[in-house]
Amino acid sequence: MGTLWHGRFEGGPAEALLAYTVSLPFDRRLAAVDIAGSRAHVRGLGRVGLVSPDEEVAVLAALDQVEAEMAAGTFTYLRTDEDVHTAVERRVTELAGDAGAKLHTGRSRNDQVATDLRLWCKGALLEVADGALALQEVLLDRAEEAGDAYLPGYTHLQRAQPVLLAHHLLAHLWALSRDVDRLFDCRRRLDVSPLGAGALAGTSLPLDPDATSADLGFACRFENSLDATSDRDFVAEVLFCLALLGVHLSRLGEEIVLWSSEEFGFLRLDDAYSTGSSMLPQKKNPDIAELARGKAGRLIGSLAGFLATLKGLPLSYNRDLQEGSEPLFDAVDQVILGLSALGGLVRTATFELDRMRAAADDPAAAAVDLAEHLVRGGTPFRAAHAVVGGLVRTALAGGAPLADLVAAHPDLGPEAAALLHPGVPVANRTSPGGAGPVAVSVQLDRAHQRLATDRDRHGAASA
Ligand code: ARG
Repeated sequence: MGTLWHGRFEGGPAEALLAYTVSLPFDRRLAAVDIAGSRAHVRGLGRVGLVSPDEEVAVLAALDQVEAEMAAGTFTYLRTDEDVHTAVERRVTELAGDAGAKLHTGRSRNDQVATDLRLWCKGALLEVADGALALQEVLLDRAEEAGDAYLPGYTHLQRAQPVLLAHHLLAHLWALSRDVDRLFDCRRRLDVSPLGAGALAGTSLPLDPDATSADLGFACRFENSLDATSDRDFVAEVLFCLALLGVHLSRLGEEIVLWSSEEFGFLRLDDAYSTGSSMLPQKKNPDIAELARGKAGRLIGSLAGFLATLKGLPLSYNRDLQEGSEPLFDAVDQVILGLSALGGLVRTATFELDRMRAAADDPAAAAVDLAEHLVRGGTPFRAAHAVVGGLVRTALAGGAPLADLVAAHPDLGPEAAALLHPGVPVANRTSPGGAGPVAVSVQLDRAHQRLATDRDRHGAASA
């Protein structure tokens, strides 16, 4: 004995074959779901009489023991354990003898690995969603605490109009809430049991895939055994969800890098969430934020690489599919770590509100408010834009301060000049979803509601 398939083979496997093909080093993290799948399968075999009640009990006891050995760290993997599925079945057979040798009846590693991966993804997506919700909660707390503080909003990385700091932070929250929605949606789509599809075509034995699907808590069973054993759309989708989430973390990371630079000076990182330089004693570096940016490249690469793996595969199972597992595990790990590290960074950082305000109080940032003042008096916007543009040009050329030019202008005057006062432009961003305090307080309520709803969805899915 040795491999699962030794019967047909004369000699043992070459070292080079094992070294290249064995997936145990990474798929051992499927052990818990593999054991769950085997429990459901042997109970299914028991229900249709393919194993006797005693045999079922013996196999279930052996599976319990395997689980206990793994938890205790005493489980011994063998050189010939190609993958975790082999290792578990091999040990069950050692423990339960002939009853154990019946465990794989009507089952293939092809439906088994698809089942395991889907079960694993169901858990992993909830963990990622939990991390994303936690980061959203941090952003929401910080937004609430920011009150009426404001900073320049940017387009093209040029100062454009003042916005509330809360508004800026909430922009990242809403991107994450789309990610959370995508994670739930992806989880719903992959909630299909492949168990019972066999190697590719089902079986002559009276298995009941609906029953094992229900036993495992899947929403339904597969429709087509070829599709069930060869489909890894769900892995690609998870990788996409994580890549886009990673891109969102990267964009947040990039802003943290900019804001914590001396040039911006909008953000001071807590010591616990920044790093030093090995040579330059004065340095404090935003390495978490940089890695959030850097790791997005790896997440995108994992998605692109796995799509390339899938694109040429004929039906049904091909060993190439094994290439999905490492990027999947890695992407989940990296995103969970990133969410937690960024969450800590944002929670503990100090916003330099004076710096932000000073950067936003350039009167020219209120130029559009002057134009809108003229619009309220009936001037077509395009004409108003030209009038104010002319005043800004004169002010920039050193003619006079913008406020004086505005106050002296026949169509504008002192009332319009007051629009340039610090804090007035942002307060006037009153339209729904806009950047001013009135609109943002509505937004904060909505963000609370959205988070509560998503927390409930998470709770319901975890139950
Ligand atoms: N370890 C494999 C995987 O992850 C499953 C093994 C199926 N192997 C086979 N030769 N049919 O896809």
